[in-house]
Amino acid sequence: MDQNPYSTALLAWYQANARDLPWRRPDASAWSILVSEIMLQQTPVTRVLPAWEAWMRRWPTPADLATEPSGEAVRMWNRLGYPRRALNLHACARTIVERHEGEVPSSYQDLRALPGVGAYTAAAVASFAFGGRHAILDTNVRRVLARAHTGVEYPPKTPTKAETELAESLLPADATVAARWGVAIMELGALVCTARSPACAECPIANQCAWRLAGKPAHEGPPRRG
Ligand code: ADE
Repeated sequence: MDQNPYSTALLAWYQANARDLPWRRPDASAWSILVSEIMLQQTPVTRVLPAWEAWMRRWPTPADLATEPSGEAVRMWNRLGYPRRALNLHACARTIVERHEGEVPSSYQDLRALPGVGAYTAAAVASFAFGGRHAILDTNVRRVLARAHTGVEYPPKTPTKAETELAESLLPADATVAARWGVAIMELGALVCTARSPACAECPIANQCAWRLAGKPAHEGPPRRG
């Protein structure tokens, strides 16, 4: 039995509604997925798309970037903001060449050890690039879980152990399904269960959402983005 009460509805919704983003395509390389996740950490999808295309055209593998001076990475980063991420990606490329024979490592631990790769990014790459079974807890996912499970409008300001445990308990047993489920719940938060104006009428799990069933009580305190 699947532990997850809404995996079927969510996966069907994702299949029909997901954005066609190049780093989600089946032929996307692990490197291209790592680059996308680092760019998406603090920049919206629409601004990441052209920057990611240009980056991947110029440096299709970690080895291509590793031979360049780090200043080139910063220059290519252009206007994405938080340019430390460009330096981190450059350092990632060099580490991948020096310690992993030029291949992005597949384990959570090895990914987590790369420069600028935190818990979220390591889980996302292990899951999306390698089909590993990891809970993905970004802002969007945390908001969906707060509403659907905890019955509150917004998650706590900083991630808690309880959220990680909840996300892990919901992971579908099959790793491939779990990876798809992770991106599906992320997409639900980005497109439907948005911070300010959730479109509950379009939500595939609305009839199981604790927050909606409780009459969508407002968050106590100042409004939060998510
Ligand atoms: N698809 C895969 N990872 C993503 C992310 N971090 N944001 C938006 N879409 C994604």
